[in-house]
Amino acid sequence: MKMMETERLAVTVKEANLPDYEKTAREFDWKEAEKAFSWYETGKVNAAYEAIDRHAESEERKNKLALIYSDPNREERYTFAEMKEKSNRFGNVLRKIGIQKGDRVFIFMPRTPELYFSFFGAIKIGAIVGPLFEAFMEAAVRDRLENSEAVALVTTPALLPRVPVDELPALKHIILVGAQGELPEGYYDFHKEMANASPELDIEWVDREDGMLIHYTSGSTGKPKGVYHVHNAMIQHYQTGKWVLDFKEDDVYWCTADPGWVTGTSYGIFAPWLNGVTNVVRGGRFSPDDWYQTIEKYKVTVWYSAPTAFRMLMAAGDDVVKKYDLSSLRHVLSVGEPLNPEVIRWGMKVYNQRIHDTWWMTETGAILIANYPSMEIKPGSMGRPIPGVKAAIIDDEGNELPPYQMGNLAIRTPWPSMMRAIWKNPEKYQEYFRIPGWYISGDSAYMDEEGYFWFQGRLDDVIVTGGKNVGPFEVESKLVEHPAVAEAGVIGKPDPVRGQIIKAFVALRSGYQPSEELKEEIRKHVKEKLAAHAAPREIEFKDKLPKTRSGKIMRRVLKAWELGLPTGDLSTMED
Ligand code: WT7
Repeated sequence: MKMMETERLAVTVKEANLPDYEKTAREFDWKEAEKAFSWYETGKVNAAYEAIDRHAESEERKNKLALIYSDPNREERYTFAEMKEKSNRFGNVLRKIGIQKGDRVFIFMPRTPELYFSFFGAIKIGAIVGPLFEAFMEAAVRDRLENSEAVALVTTPALLPRVPVDELPALKHIILVGAQGELPEGYYDFHKEMANASPELDIEWVDREDGMLIHYTSGSTGKPKGVYHVHNAMIQHYQTGKWVLDFKEDDVYWCTADPGWVTGTSYGIFAPWLNGVTNVVRGGRFSPDDWYQTIEKYKVTVWYSAPTAFRMLMAAGDDVVKKYDLSSLRHVLSVGEPLNPEVIRWGMKVYNQRIHDTWWMTETGAILIANYPSMEIKPGSMGRPIPGVKAAIIDDEGNELPPYQMGNLAIRTPWPSMMRAIWKNPEKYQEYFRIPGWYISGDSAYMDEEGYFWFQGRLDDVIVTGGKNVGPFEVESKLVEHPAVAEAGVIGKPDPVRGQIIKAFVALRSGYQPSEELKEEIRKHVKEKLAAHAAPREIEFKDKLPKTRSGKIMRRVLKAWELGLPTGDLSTMED
């Protein structure tokens, strides 16, 4: 669908780290970014060294706060020097029990400082870390530990019942954070072991292409895929931290994602710490008051969150915002799913901030397309590719399509943080690269004449109705503009005449009752604000929409419900 008149939000920042996008995009070479790291001289690397020790060994940053941790029961602060010491100790704990380079060490626990010490300790000795979101139940935990053949697991006594230890022959060591009393063989008390371990560690210097992380991501069919990342990814974590998150020395940064998801590692761990920035981690559940309090209390300057969170904050209302002093905020970003223009407009109103959308995937390892502080924002667009990366819209033969034509969103291979494998599944990996020279994202999008990319849907989500292509996101965005609509999910429903018709599942805001009149009113709203052919012919009210734990509306589940088909892998669905 062609955007005629595009709304634009002017640049308000004075000094951005990427002052001139066009110039940098023309001239930038990744070799430049690599010079930030000590390994530029040695040829050997360790991302944990670059994120923590490099700063701990510098006069300027050794006593700088690296981590501010808080949850309803705990509040702790750690400097870079302390982070170094803690992660060194944990590296020694793992070495003592026999963990070696390349072994998979999984971490299955809620966000606490111990999670971060474990993460870096494992990477320092060359192990490959697999973070698992705490909400996973037994079947999901089993699939992931089985596929990765994890040798060691860091977890808590509360989560241990969900780990089918006896059915996992590779799993030899369980390290318990918060263990009580005597432990059987193969089990270790995290804090006891840490206290006995040396604070000095011989770091395992690895190659840039050596393994660092496995993130499991849900497929639409079959088992989850283990997306494998290497140390080399740090170059892009670092550089996008500069350009997109616009990190400056005095920033206090808060990424709301859990490290069980890639945003929580690439941008909750690597990007801030590779840039030596103070990082806020908040444990515990979401509540608008707690979130705003976090910003107020720690004077958060850069805030990276997700559309679903912004929509929940928006639903909580403007009065909650007014209770807090959010004036420290200077840069707000979003990732994970389409950022509705309505949310951006609301952000301007209540935070006086432009919310910057960013696009990437578990598989891409880091941000590839973004809105930069120095660039005009067109609400609804994901922005432009980062310098050093080429994105394009291509057809199924690999031909690049002209502006405004919808097609496959593809990226020229390679880029520094690209996944290097799907763990033990080379066929799946190859599918992403089936067109030579390109990575096929599976998203459909179009580009406008200024090179801004506009997301249309996951490829199989695009609706063709009466011969017209309709992106579900556009329709959903219009739906949530209606005052009665809290959330909306849109699918194409097979129709003998139109090919597909648009069906919307709608959750109402509190205070609104479902009725035929309301359906008609909502339909009319979309018809009038978007297009007649894009207005949902069918609307069904739901109390809640099926969402992933990271907040994405699961259209494939809506589709399966609608068609009475099996729903596939639900391990990432929220309760
Ligand atoms: C898929 C990847 C990597 C961050 C967390 C998600 C969708 C991501 C956007 C955006 C529209 C987006 C895409 C993508 N997505 N960012 N800014 N606008 N859609 O990682 O779980 O691997 O999901 O999320 O469909 O392919 P993920």
